[in-house]
Amino acid sequence: MKTTKQLPIEVRGSHARPLGMSPARFLRDYWQKRPLLIRNAFPGFQPPLQPDDLAGLACEPGALARLIVHDEKHDRWQLNSGPLDEADFARTPDSNWTLLVQDVDKWDADVAGLLQHFSFLPSWRVDDVMVSYAEPGGGVGAHVDQYDVFLLQGLGQRHWAISDDPMAPKEFRRDVELKQLAHFEPTHEWLLEPGDMLYLPPDMPHDGVAFGGPCMTFSVGMRAPSQAELTGDLADHIAERLPDDLRYTDPDLKPSTATGEIDRAALARLRFALPFAAALDDVMLRDWFGRFITRYRNAQVPAPLEKPLAAEALARQLAAGARLLRHPWSRLAWSKGKASCTLFASGQAYAATPELAQQLCEQRELGASGTLDETGQSLLLALVNDGHLLLRKARRRR
Ligand code: SIN
Ligand code: CO
Repeated sequence: MKTTKQLPIEVRGSHARPLGMSPARFLRDYWQKRPLLIRNAFPGFQPPLQPDDLAGLACEPGALARLIVHDEKHDRWQLNSGPLDEADFARTPDSNWTLLVQDVDKWDADVAGLLQHFSFLPSWRVDDVMVSYAEPGGGVGAHVDQYDVFLLQGLGQRHWAISDDPMAPKEFRRDVELKQLAHFEPTHEWLLEPGDMLYLPPDMPHDGVAFGGPCMTFSVGMRAPSQAELTGDLADHIAERLPDDLRYTDPDLKPSTATGEIDRAALARLRFALPFAAALDDVMLRDWFGRFITRYRNAQVPAPLEKPLAAEALARQLAAGARLLRHPWSRLAWSKGKASCTLFASGQAYAATPELAQQLCEQRELGASGTLDETGQSLLLALVNDGHLLLRKARRRR
């Protein structure tokens, strides 16, 4: 069996083998797994589009274009997400800027022609060809993409740095609009020439900077819906097709002993009403249903306090006899699992104890919280600040 160590990170391509190996070997050893630099993937590559054509396309209404300028001295980044016009280009400095245009294959048949070289992949996995033009020093900064990408050098040279360290930190810089990595330690660096191509699997830190002169890069990007997107769309799809009279039912209901509790029997009935959710564990089912049922068909929801109250201020008010009234539009429910108990309030979830959750569901008005533990006190404070409990100050004696 081959070990990872034996797999080269750099190979040489040819007219017959743009991947430097057969597609089957590439898919087995590299696709979605590890980066690969293919020198000379497209021998004698001539860009199917010139920089001026790209600038013209960037100014088309409807084109997805970004102009990014890096002030190297202060490490400040300026992003113009369009619509762009000629004046934007006239204002660019001599270096350290880049123009990126997405979906160029939809506008330009020659650029779309590049995709024929990727026909070993299902066409529905291909997202677009993004084309960038950069002056020396231009780039978008170190970042990760959530998709596989083939970065084909089209014109000039680009310095690429990547990190294939699985422990590489992925936090973003907070001071930059672009989703740039706060920390980036390259493990590999290369200078790409026209026709060279770098393949990167998803989530791999990388940074490409134009080197020496004008630079064009053609990025063939893949698409892979997130589980969240798949789930949302499937749920909508199913929901549109289900008749309205198929509902949550509970002909086996027993008298309620704990008002507001979403108990095990309710969860079992939910599973029956949602056969496609069989794979959901109790924790997720409970968390989703508690949020859902407490915001279901609510005409209004309480508004959070404009000025949140501090814990000490709430404790002081309660000690002085203030009462907590449930907001008339706040709908509550609670549920306990093996390890935790959650109170749901109009779509929001809060850590709670079963006793306090039950009390809040049962009683519309509460008094002093002196005997509450820390969880209880933070819960009341959160409910007050989120508008679910209204603080009624004690009346002053005359
Ligand atoms: C580029 O600047 O052409 C590539 C951007 C990227 O790294 O995704
Ligand atoms: Co990228």
